[in-house]
Amino acid sequence: MDRIRIRGGKPLEGEIRISGAKNAALPLMVACLLTDEPLKLLNIPHLADITQLASLLAQLGVEINMSGETGHEAEAGRVLTLTARQIASTTAPYEIVRKMRASFLVSGPLLARCGRAEVSLPGGCAIGDRPVDLHLKALEALGARVTLNDGYVIAEAPYGLKGARIDFPMASVGATENALMAASLAQGETLISNAACEPEIGDLGRCLIAMGARIEGLGTPTIRVSGQDKLRGATHRVLPDRIEAGTYALAPVIAGGRIKLMGAQMSTIASLAPILRALDVDLSEEEDGVTVSGNGDKRGEVDVTTEPYPGFPTDLQAQLMALLCTVQGTSQITETIFENRFMHVPELGRMGARISVNGQVATIEGVKSLTGAPVMATDLRASVSLVLAGLAAEGETIVHRIYHLDRGFERIEEKLGKCGADIVRLKD
Ligand code: EPZ
Repeated sequence: MDRIRIRGGKPLEGEIRISGAKNAALPLMVACLLTDEPLKLLNIPHLADITQLASLLAQLGVEINMSGETGHEAEAGRVLTLTARQIASTTAPYEIVRKMRASFLVSGPLLARCGRAEVSLPGGCAIGDRPVDLHLKALEALGARVTLNDGYVIAEAPYGLKGARIDFPMASVGATENALMAASLAQGETLISNAACEPEIGDLGRCLIAMGARIEGLGTPTIRVSGQDKLRGATHRVLPDRIEAGTYALAPVIAGGRIKLMGAQMSTIASLAPILRALDVDLSEEEDGVTVSGNGDKRGEVDVTTEPYPGFPTDLQAQLMALLCTVQGTSQITETIFENRFMHVPELGRMGARISVNGQVATIEGVKSLTGAPVMATDLRASVSLVLAGLAAEGETIVHRIYHLDRGFERIEEKLGKCGADIVRLKD
């Protein structure tokens, strides 16, 4: 299995192009099932999860054309054209869904388009058991008959879906996306309350509207959908990845130096900006990006709780923790979204970090410097926190199991290497 080697202590200087958002691209790709016309998506990131989902959609009968794959165009992201002229199958098999939970999003669109969906339960993953009960609640509210059989969800609506009230007891990104797509082809009005408000949901909604859907209230907890008989093809550009941008914003803070995040706006890193300012980090916004400048000596005490948008995102929790390990002072992070998202703590401990965990609360005592060590990636965002720590650590860090990393960070060693980091991929 590939590993990444980082020799830390080098300040960073340069530009990093922020790719299209993984967590917007995935539901946008699934939206192609809602129409028999071509859906053209621009600025698609080069990620394992994207390839994985494309192979599932191909199995369902979607014609996929990918371009802009290599060379300078790679900077601009891939162009993906997906055409679900006919649906060849309404079954999403366990082999694929278990590896990537976002595959479960095909259930709503398949049900809306074909009146049937048979999708494997995703099962848990490293960060939590991650049920899909809210997805099923939404589909049942829209009139589907949902049964469970041999680990598969079977949803049926032979006479089509009907608009309804969907009251979510808690905000769920995926369940909101599933409901939004299914309701777009239901007969009549749907009112979704307590909808999640993440920007990726807004991006999906804007694409659905371009496809002919009638949606109001995007970006708010109350979304109204007037179902249409048919949706058409469209062209849509994926928004910049706020988690990638936040991650790379932390790189010059932990390692020192200055990085310009090309394609990001201050709004892209809105949740992080106040924390960085509290640590005397200099942020400046230009037309084509945001520049972050950090210096070696970092002092401060930070108390952050992860929350649904617009709160601090759980997907940046591990990365912020890596930074706080090197900030003089005592900081605290409380994780409220997932029940097991501190697996990076023992790995950071191997690098000399001083972190104690009590339930969902991690207390971090900043240390003068971290030391490089062999460490193991456990999940997507934990793996990049180890890379950040390696940039600051004295000596050599080897991150094992970086297949986790490749799921969500496009060409990370190229992007950081171009800014002066000593980082190489070691192929077995
Ligand atoms: C999305 O996952 C993201 N993934 C996650 O990013 C992100 O961490 C998460 O939203 C929260 O922001 C994609 O967009 C592909 P949720 P999702 O439904 O939709 C519970 C990454 O690193 N829940 O908002 O699965 C759930 O267990 C990934 O890129 C139910 O109880 O998240 C969790 O505790 C990791 N029942 C909470 O809600 C349900 O039916 C939030 O989950 C659904 C969710």
